[in-house]
Amino acid sequence: MNQTAITEAASYINKKSSSGPAIGLILGSGLGVLADEIDNPVTFSYKDIPHFPESTVSGHKGQLVTGKLEGRQVIAMQGRFHYYEGYSMKQVTFPVRVMKKLGIDSIIVTNAAGGINKVFNPGDLMLITDHINNMGDNPLLGPNDETLGERFPDMSHVYDKAYLRHAKDCASTLGLTVQEGVYVGNTGPAYETPAEINMLRTLGGDAVGMSTVPEVIVSGHSGLRVLGISCISNMAAGILDQPLTHNEVIETTKQVREDFLKFVKEIIRTLPN
Ligand code: 6GU
Repeated sequence: MNQTAITEAASYINKKSSSGPAIGLILGSGLGVLADEIDNPVTFSYKDIPHFPESTVSGHKGQLVTGKLEGRQVIAMQGRFHYYEGYSMKQVTFPVRVMKKLGIDSIIVTNAAGGINKVFNPGDLMLITDHINNMGDNPLLGPNDETLGERFPDMSHVYDKAYLRHAKDCASTLGLTVQEGVYVGNTGPAYETPAEINMLRTLGGDAVGMSTVPEVIVSGHSGLRVLGISCISNMAAGILDQPLTHNEVIETTKQVREDFLKFVKEIIRTLPN
């Protein structure tokens, strides 16, 4: 079933765009605008792709976009599937399997996240150096398909060191200040309590969100090179004396959009093969 589903979804996309994408992009809350900059785009609404779940969250479009960005063949997810929506880990990560099948060898995973590290500010961009899977689930549970990846994949180099280096070089080229840190994946949908944020800081977390970890685990399993970027949309609970709202997440990502777009485009334009 799994293999067949992946193949069917991939051939549906291949029929309408035989582009052979090299770089996959997962665009988080408020960051989907990057896909609007793709040249000669071919779009695929999630609801039309065989075996794809359907996206439900506001601020997410729910489509795959293929084409050229900065001269490179890309395939972008404009909106992703979240575990908190009720999808299984396999459903959340199915698009990564399909993009891999379509030929990508690299993936740039982005998200909006809450800042845990007190030196961060809303609007900061953070390169993800590592993650903590705090979701109590794993997309690789169950029988392992050896054709997709190994049973016990190494996660010590899942965030590609050369890509991190490359992204930092791009930031300095553009005169952008970027943070680096550990992303904690929580299920949500409730934001954390101040006590939970203190705990996560003690555990080594710098930012927290409700996505990314499942997709990165499957990317690692698939042998993809991963670059992760968080947009710090707000400080997590208990750091500032103000309630968290999804609106703030959307508003801040709007404000850093220009920097984010410039940054990711420069990374893609000059990404080593
Ligand atoms: Cl503070 N927590 C979580 N879990 N996700 C977020 C967030 C916080 N801010 C943006 N996304």
